[in-house]
Amino acid sequence: MSDTPTHFEAMRHIMSAAHPPLPWQESGQLPWHDQAFSERMLAVHLDPDTHMASRAPEVINRHLDWLLAQMNQRGQQGPTHVLDVGCGPGLYCHELARRGHRATGFDYAPAPLAWAQEKAEGENLNNTFFTADLTDLPVDLAAKTGQVDAITFWFGEFHSFQPEVAENFLSRLLECLRPGGLFVLEYQPWDIFVKEDSNEWSACEESVFCNRPHLWLQEFSWNEEARTEVHVHWIIEQESGNLHRYEQCHQGWPEDELVQMLERVGLVDPAFSPPITGVAEEFEFPMLVTRKKA
Ligand SMILES: C[S@@+](CC[C@H](N)C(=O)[O-])C[C@H]1O[C@@H](n2cnc3c(N)ncnc32)[C@H](O)[C@@H]1O
Repeated sequence: MSDTPTHFEAMRHIMSAAHPPLPWQESGQLPWHDQAFSERMLAVHLDPDTHMASRAPEVINRHLDWLLAQMNQRGQQGPTHVLDVGCGPGLYCHELARRGHRATGFDYAPAPLAWAQEKAEGENLNNTFFTADLTDLPVDLAAKTGQVDAITFWFGEFHSFQPEVAENFLSRLLECLRPGGLFVLEYQPWDIFVKEDSNEWSACEESVFCNRPHLWLQEFSWNEEARTEVHVHWIIEQESGNLHRYEQCHQGWPEDELVQMLERVGLVDPAFSPPITGVAEEFEFPMLVTRKKA
């Protein structure tokens, strides 16, 4: 195979980029809201044999048993209304509704959200879903959700945002939470971050990034100044040599700073729970439960 100029350009582009990659050069997030990416990602969300993107049903059930017990211990009896942030295909919302609760979810990934909506309609579940971007929440957010008893943020996606962005959307989310209501954060502890650089590559027939044969080069780095893990995906399509770059950043939060930030927005009484999923170690994230100041 002889390289086309496009393949050469792709190589030149990669070679001239910063190595190790710098944090937050783009959004720092996977292209969840891209239609084609979200369609491919939906299949991963719904695959019960993997804990990628969404956990398998038995884990979601275990999470919800734990959540409802937490709410119960804090005096929430009977049916409850939960807002699930970044709900993806709505698996947590559906299960809450099947158990007699009301659950509202939002996300900005089109295919999973459409699937969530269809599933809820098909089963006649007490769910509301709407599109919203955490970095640009609608002014009428609280009107869309109504007042909720708890807000959940599963799977550590919280770390895909820089501290000021996170603080911003948390104060907006609290507009929806009743005083005394719970904010439940599945977070990635400081110690879990791999603070060293590495590279990896694979040849793929297809992946979530591309449905044609491609090379997938990955760079992992830790930026001490920004306390951010940077994960860059380079996709080089085999036929055309077209190059795509996706940047994924994960903000590390020492636990005390996380608690202080939550307190600044009005979330108090932090309680840490060890991982409750009981699955493979890389998916074992702990929980931080706080309460909106009354
Ligand atoms: C790892 S998935 C978890 C999905 C779901 N919480 C679950 O556990 O099944 C992360 C989700 O966060 C959503 N997300 C990421 N950034 C977002 C943003 N800026 N606004 C809204 N949703 C976002 C993604 O679209 C994706 O559905």
